[in-house]
Amino acid sequence: MRNLFDGPERGVFRGDDGDHVLLHDFLPDELPHRENEMHVVADCVSPLISGGRPVHVFLHGAPGIGKTAVTRTVLTHMGDQTSSVKVLYLNCWSKNTRHGVLVELLTALGEIVPRQGLSTDEVYDRLLYRLDRKADGYVIALDEVDRLAGKEGDVLYDLLRSEVNLGLILISNDPYAFRNFDARVRSSLSYEEVAFAAYGYDELKDILGERARMAFLPGACDPAIVGVVARFTAESGGDVRLGLDCLLKAGREAERAGTDRVGADHVKAVLGRVRSARLKLDLQGITDEERAILRTVLALTEQDTTPATTGTVFGAYKEKGGVVAERTFRKYLANLESLRILSSRLSGKGQRGNTRLITVRAPRTELTALLGEMY
Ligand SMILES: Nc1ncnc2c1ncn2[C@@H]1O[C@H](COP(=O)(O)OP(=O)(O)OP(=O)(O)O)[C@@H](O)[C@H]1O
Ligand SMILES: [Mg+2]
Repeated sequence: MRNLFDGPERGVFRGDDGDHVLLHDFLPDELPHRENEMHVVADCVSPLISGGRPVHVFLHGAPGIGKTAVTRTVLTHMGDQTSSVKVLYLNCWSKNTRHGVLVELLTALGEIVPRQGLSTDEVYDRLLYRLDRKADGYVIALDEVDRLAGKEGDVLYDLLRSEVNLGLILISNDPYAFRNFDARVRSSLSYEEVAFAAYGYDELKDILGERARMAFLPGACDPAIVGVVARFTAESGGDVRLGLDCLLKAGREAERAGTDRVGADHVKAVLGRVRSARLKLDLQGITDEERAILRTVLALTEQDTTPATTGTVFGAYKEKGGVVAERTFRKYLANLESLRILSSRLSGKGQRGNTRLITVRAPRTELTALLGEMY
């Protein structure tokens, strides 16, 4: 018997780690169908190179359609072009306070910041001092910027009122990400807006085809296979990550089967699995209360087109015996959203500042079935 840990006898991936180009955080050199967006963002910050004033830019659109990839590419090109402009990237998902963002930026500039003992204003003063000395200009990208709700969003005001020459790249799924920010922030913020449109089937086919070309040996993954994965991805909402997962798993399936080509049967075997494997794991990793919240949302939003407000969900959850307080409840909602099981957006007029509209994002039938099994 061959050793279980020997590599496959016949491979489909290039070299030893050809499959790494199918991982989510791999940034390819080219981003097909996002050339326009890249140029708009680059044009906004390019004045910095000659000491001019940049234009801030706000990117928004659905998950998995290249907003972060476009931003990272622009930052990389800027870094390669000049050392007089420093680039900083920060995801506000975990750093969702004014203090947290300021500390993170200061740390990124090389300063060691004690975990406790510095007031937010002190951190801000240190940051200004650093920014002033470190470079002539800055590009600061704040990803998932809507996470800085309410007063925490004042960090944008901190940056805008500094006399440092900086261009902000702000990113969110929510086109109304700043609704909840202080009026002072909104009035001092002006930006170019770039709405990312969802990719269609043909675009997904190009994008996934290019990633497949890099990952697989010549002839190992037929364009028809990429077509099937692109179709599945388009129909599941267009998140490129889903398509990348399918290609990776189909490739591994082919290698396990000992062939040197990814076949239609390998792909078929993984499509549903990719979606439900992710969902199953996510559901196991959450608490009983989070599952109870999910059941409540499912019951309240019988169709995906009818969202429920945070308040309604909290009320119904409590009625059914939910034990956690509102603060924890909101934390749980945020977690379910980060797992892409639920999605939320800030509600419009007439609602309290922090009210969000919640919808189910995972496939409803499957989610209901899995939650049923997990009682
Ligand atoms: N045009 C493209 N060409 C090549 N790869 C792409 C393209 N668009 C997206 N991708 C890939 O898809 C994955 C998801 O893209 P990205 O992280 O930029 O999504 P996003 O819009 O920031 O999503 P989210 O809102 O969930 O953060 C990444 O692996 C990225 O490399
Ligand atoms: Mg992103």
